[in-house]
Amino acid sequence: MEKMRVALLVVFSAAVLWPDRALALKCYSCTPQPCNNQCMDPMNCSEEDRYCMTVVELLEIGPSSVKQISKMCMPNCSEIIQHPVFTSCCQRDFCNLNGDAAARFCNSRMLLGILATSVSALLWTGL
Ligand SMILES: *[C@@H]1O[C@H](CO)[C@@H](O)[C@H](O)[C@H]1NC(C)=O
Ligand SMILES: *[C@@H]1O[C@H](CO)[C@@H](O)[C@H](O)[C@H]1NC(C)=O
Repeated sequence: MEKMRVALLVVFSAAVLWPDRALALKCYSCTPQPCNNQCMDPMNCSEEDRYCMTVVELLEIGPSSVKQISKMCMPNCSEIIQHPVFTSCCQRDFCNLNGDAAARFCNSRMLLGILATSVSALLWTGL
């Protein structure tokens, strides 16, 4: 899974980076979302933007905390690792693909899928 993601990223970056280096940066963008996979809208940055930025914010709502991930183009960017805000910066087209590791798998359908797969694997080997 991780290897495939890296391979895809390499192919994708190669295809995206080489033909048009001179054009404006492209980043993923979204308004705050709980899941990284809901934060994948491609965006053409404006000319002064030099960074793709990812912001992960932990919102304390009563006893539980909720992650919010957002991405954007930025003319400048500083990396902040200070609870409850975590930012990361990068400078290549669509380099802000992955969010915070913990925000990546928050889709319950995906969790169910993993669960179903391991249950059927168990049944398969058990019979
Ligand atoms: C970004 O720019 C490219 C080339 O100019 C264009 O084809 C594409 O539709 C644009 N994408 C967005 C999201 O505006
Ligand atoms: C960008 O730079 C300006 C001026 O130096 C500063 O006020 C602003 O906070 C910076 N933004 C980020 C995201 O670092």
